Amino acid sequence: MEDLRVLAKRRVPRMFYEYADSGSWTEGTYRSNQEDFEKIKLRQRVGVSIESRSTAATMLGRGVALPVAIAPTGLTGMQHADGEMLAARAARDFGVPFTLSTMSICSIEDVAQALNGDPFWFQVYVMRDRRFVERLIARAKAANVGALVLTLDLPVSGQRHKDLKNGLSAPPKLTLSNFANILGKPRWWWNMLRTRRRTLGNIVGHIEGIGSTTLLSEWCAQQFDPTLSWEDVRWIRRLWHGKLIVKGIQDVQDAHHAIAAGADAIVVSNHGGRQLDGAISSIRALPLIAEQVGTQIEVHMDGGIRSGQDVLKALALGAKGTYIGRSMLYGLGALGQRGVTRALEIIQKELDLTMAFCGYLRPGDVDRSILLDEFGLPYLPQQSARLLASRFVAAQTSQTSPELRVG
Ligand SMILES: Cc1cc2nc3c(=O)[nH]c(=O)nc-3n(C[C@H](O)[C@H](O)[C@H](O)COP(=O)(O)O)c2cc1C
Repeated sequence: MEDLRVLAKRRVPRMFYEYADSGSWTEGTYRSNQEDFEKIKLRQRVGVSIESRSTAATMLGRGVALPVAIAPTGLTGMQHADGEMLAARAARDFGVPFTLSTMSICSIEDVAQALNGDPFWFQVYVMRDRRFVERLIARAKAANVGALVLTLDLPVSGQRHKDLKNGLSAPPKLTLSNFANILGKPRWWWNMLRTRRRTLGNIVGHIEGIGSTTLLSEWCAQQFDPTLSWEDVRWIRRLWHGKLIVKGIQDVQDAHHAIAAGADAIVVSNHGGRQLDGAISSIRALPLIAEQVGTQIEVHMDGGIRSGQDVLKALALGAKGTYIGRSMLYGLGALGQRGVTRALEIIQKELDLTMAFCGYLRPGDVDRSILLDEFGLPYLPQQSARLLASRFVAAQTSQTSPELRVG
């Protein structure tokens, strides 16, 4: 996966590569999404017959080749020309769900056409213009969308320094330094010249008066809605009768709200470290949420997944499914559709071999007993860890220290 990242960095213009490979403010949460996975160790087992294993699983009742979906990512068609269509085809052929972002370059209709009517998932933001949201949902229904992913963690946009410095826009503004940088990426611009899809395809042509890049960026900046509430989730639930996935949950209470609002699944996510810098990593947020609500709703997670081992760790901590954002984008930027397939192959192979070394035949069978902490000790459920910690503190404070006894 690291090779794909390095190749993508070489082939994609700086503005778009850095849009993908960045987090908000200090990027602390962005880094910890990956680093916290590395702290979790795996328990090797031997002497178990592991010949008949498979990575197949189900997500929301649908069979998948491995429990990994493609996360919604904005401007994917700027990592590679027609990026969303290519990634959607790669995911469909591999047997995993593809999620299209509202902020995509290729439109809902483009992707539906690229897949010849096969289903995909669509991510929606609640925007100030509620009539636009209603129309988006109607378009999603017409395009045979199989599940709606409602993202709640972007009522305002996190500040990403690199985007400000690079003057991010789609299509890119041709300043001298952008132009010089793009010239050095011949594969990218050659493909980009051959497509007509270079701006936000779900928006341009669907909102009156939005055509030019300036008007579009103004519209987008004004449209994220700070009044977003659980009432809006209930409103979407009434509009959309298919599977509803609520994305951006980091807190047990919010998970309960999602259940009450009628969601079919939640995604434990911090938006890949792009929103609240300082939030805990997704893999740390996952176990408590899965323990508390995992029997009432399907729990998914994303953030920091760069390998099949990360997928297995998330499953062991209670996720029924996972999503990849940057791992897909690196593949796409590096090698187009073939690169997305490659990224999925890498993750599947790592998942398969790791299951084998841990003595498991199915991803759905793993639980936290396959995990060890940094000291090689069992990975405790959050509740037990807390109980132990509080007993320890209580024991410490109730014990009279030797000095006090003497005194
Ligand atoms: C470049 C980029 C754009 C994104 N755009 C969206 C988006 O439009 N909608 C959304 O719900 N999440 C968006 N996300 C968040 C992803 O869906 C996902 O939560 C995140 O990428 C997972 O972390 P990972 O990249 O470490 O796998 C974006 C992430 C990236 C990296």
